[in-house]
Amino acid sequence: MKKRVLVTGGAGYIGSHTAVELIEAGYDVVVADDLSNAEMTAVEGVRRITGAEVPFVKADCSDPAQLFPIFEQYPVDAVIHFAAFKAVGESVHKPLDYYRNNLSLLITVLEAMRKYGVENIVFSSSCTVYGQADVLPVTEQTPRKEAESPYGNTKKMCEDILRDSVKAYPGLKGIALRYFNPIGAHPSALIGELPRGVPNNLVPYVTQTAAGLREQLSVFGDDYNTPDGSCLRDYIDVVDLARAHVAAIGRMVGGRSKAPYEIFNVGTGRPVSVLELVHTFEKVNGVKVNYKIVGRRAGDIEAVWADTSYANSELGWKAEKSLEETLAGAWNWEKHRRGIE
Ligand code: NAD
Ligand code: WQD
Repeated sequence: MKKRVLVTGGAGYIGSHTAVELIEAGYDVVVADDLSNAEMTAVEGVRRITGAEVPFVKADCSDPAQLFPIFEQYPVDAVIHFAAFKAVGESVHKPLDYYRNNLSLLITVLEAMRKYGVENIVFSSSCTVYGQADVLPVTEQTPRKEAESPYGNTKKMCEDILRDSVKAYPGLKGIALRYFNPIGAHPSALIGELPRGVPNNLVPYVTQTAAGLREQLSVFGDDYNTPDGSCLRDYIDVVDLARAHVAAIGRMVGGRSKAPYEIFNVGTGRPVSVLELVHTFEKVNGVKVNYKIVGRRAGDIEAVWADTSYANSELGWKAEKSLEETLAGAWNWEKHRRGIE
């Protein structure tokens, strides 16, 4: 019997790529999303890539009256819970929106799982919980730091809600995946990141600058204590990241979890600087990115990258794509969206 997975926030960037990888790995998928930060084109893209029907329910998953009927209609073996607000800067100005949505989403999902006897959940956490770690790369044992933003705090609080819930409710199993910096797009260029307005994240800003939608990329700081002075991050291809979810689901539904609550770093283990990323993008795609070095961005950390050995050995998963391949995919997606070439 095929296992079925509910993907909350499955019309979003990471959720849509994960839906594809789940289907290609032999799972049935149901997508639920309120489309507050997504478009139906993503779901249509998933259907086109996989040739699967992929049921979609437009629902605010923080509302039991909207979420519970989905569990009723589509019995599932597991949930991957992506749905959340994710804009760090916005969360500083609208903390209550972020606490309400992100916390009540997880709580409502866990309540539905209890009511309908679903025992497996993968939660989207973030490397943001590490802040500026004292020792790099970070392992899953690296202490979490005080969150820099309400958004970051919701990730920390949700991890704790999940940890306490699996402790209290026998049978319930949870995996928190701490994503590093997801970038890139599906090689088909049918799905990818759809930032609204001016992008905050580096790669969409780079692709939009290359496409002529933005005049100039600001590189935030070249006076950090790093090899070229710009910040270091662990940029992971979104398809590699999506496959980590398939591995996590397989571990849980296959009864291979070693503890009811587990945490894995999902990154490449490769630190890349902002300038290195920009220059690699230019080289691999044969385009210029107009950029200027400006001052540091408030709240930025200097460097973070993952020790991925635990995820590699325990999940049997490894990030495979090169930075070049990923940045070619990011540019391909931008061109496809804009009808360039
Ligand atoms: P995204 O915004 O593209 O996807 C999130 C989806 O959740 C959106 O489609 C949105 O419409 C939906 N959503 C929000 N509130 C909802 C609600 N109440 N009910 C139903 N749907 C709702 O973001 P993403 O980049 O795909 O991120 C997915 C998850 O991964 C999020 O939890 C995010 O915090 C986490 N994460 C993202 C990154 C990153 O850099 N993209 C890094 C670490 C963690
Ligand atoms: C990457 C690097 C910037 C834009 C954020 C969240 C984090 C996680 C991932 C969800 C930094 C530099 C950026 C630009 C630049 N999300 N940069 N010019 O800040 O590492 O992480 O996304 O959990 O919580 O904080 O990602 O893509 O914004 O920045 O120079 O226009 O690029 O300074 O060094 P970040 P980012």
